[in-house]
Amino acid sequence: RPNRRIAIDGPAGTGKSTLARTLAGRVGGAYLDTGAMYRAATLHVLRAGIDPEDGDAVSAATADLPLEIGTDAGAERILLASEDVSEEIRTAPVTANVSAVSAVAQVRENLVRLQRRLAAGGGTVVLEGRDIGTVVLPDAEVKIYLTASPEVRARRRTDQDRAAGRAAEYEEVLAAVIERDRKDSTRAASPLRPAADAVVIDTSDLTLEEVLDRLVALAEETE
Ligand code: C5P
Repeated sequence: RPNRRIAIDGPAGTGKSTLARTLAGRVGGAYLDTGAMYRAATLHVLRAGIDPEDGDAVSAATADLPLEIGTDAGAERILLASEDVSEEIRTAPVTANVSAVSAVAQVRENLVRLQRRLAAGGGTVVLEGRDIGTVVLPDAEVKIYLTASPEVRARRRTDQDRAAGRAAEYEEVLAAVIERDRKDSTRAASPLRPAADAVVIDTSDLTLEEVLDRLVALAEETE
């Protein structure tokens, strides 16, 4: 089977995860959430009592990250040393520190290697992240960059957290969204930005269904 790679990048709160997962289902492809991998690395660092800003210590602690990506009844699961941490990687301490950990070049190198290996399996794959179209798969067959205003993204994140049973205040979420965007787009290693050849979609005034229709159409153009 030919390897068709679909790269979906953009900041938090654009509907990226839901869209990428649903798109993978529609086009019969595998789905990989690369943000979950950076979150797992961050949880590992925090559990080891390491300062996330200490790049050398973070590199050392994540060199042999015992990370596994699996599925359970169709839902993707993230395992750290065989422990299912899929829920814990979404908690506030991890979210607050993931930008620091993901800014460490060595962490990125290790995870990008794994991401490329997982994407090379054949068939259609949908990879979702910040640097898929620019760094991980610069020759991906389809590149999409999703954006939305910070206010819209913070509102979506707040609703999403509450729906999942996590406490969330809009103003705090908005501040965190803006701060994480700033860190992710100004870091030296693989900053968040659209690839020159990405299709940019502003989702602020679109429903998930409307965006999904566009993504399916873009994917089908390459069939
Ligand atoms: O997508 P999610 O919000 O789970 O990503 C968490 C964090 O992981 C991002 O804020 C970013 O710092 C980092 N990340 C990254 N490169 C990726 C995916 C995520 O640096 N490809």
